[in-house]
Amino acid sequence: MRKPVIAGNWKLFKTSSEAVELVTALLPLVSGATNVEIVVAPVFTVLDRVQRVISGSNVNLSAQDCYWEAEGAFTGEISPKMLLDAGCSHVIIGHSERRQFFGETDETVNKKIKAAIASGLVVLFCIGETLAERESEKTFDVLKRQIIGGLTGIPESDLAQVIVAYEPVWAIGTGRTASDDQAQEAHAYIRGEIRSLYSAAAAEGMRVLYGGSVKPENIAGLISRQDIDGALVGGASLKADSFAALVNAAQK
Ligand code: 13P
Repeated sequence: MRKPVIAGNWKLFKTSSEAVELVTALLPLVSGATNVEIVVAPVFTVLDRVQRVISGSNVNLSAQDCYWEAEGAFTGEISPKMLLDAGCSHVIIGHSERRQFFGETDETVNKKIKAAIASGLVVLFCIGETLAERESEKTFDVLKRQIIGGLTGIPESDLAQVIVAYEPVWAIGTGRTASDDQAQEAHAYIRGEIRSLYSAAAAEGMRVLYGGSVKPENIAGLISRQDIDGALVGGASLKADSFAALVNAAQK
């Protein structure tokens, strides 16, 4: 059985007081969700503050990105070691917004994933096609390229530290969720790629999350599908009640 994951990517939202308010409201609403891996990913500057609130709870802390070097002359970057020091157990890598706006490539994603795994972090490895790629029937080619590129050189023994997040770019922040069938089809494809790159056991164990306009109204249909193991959530993670509704739907 794969443990479901509900992860909130707060993106560039929430000052420290807003972040503390959000997690303080969230904790009692999700305390009964013992069978869900709950993750929140605030901006770097509030990681420590949020950690102090969630310490000892069933909510885990993630960063939204990291660099691959542990330290050095790399102005503006942050390393896996520093994220661990701030209390993170997880890190998002390869989000489509980083790929689109900040020059992230399959190669840099791969370096970051390797460094994060080596430090002991669990990686939320994001992949997904654009609308133009879907419309020109390149979805599977893109997913294959991103999976192979991101996981190159990573042995099967490290896959327990990897969670794949399938986020079709056209569904992010648009209100246009992939249908349950579209998401399931992509997830089954992703699991098949893990099977051919590694093994049936690796594919069976890999959690594959869906992301893109996930809301309390559409989570039940998505999570009921065979290959959908949870969600990476943007907008609906910014309010305690909607994020808790997602967590509690996954717990069922
Ligand atoms: P939305 O849930 O706001 O569409 O964002 C999804 C996402 O990008 C999560 O990483």
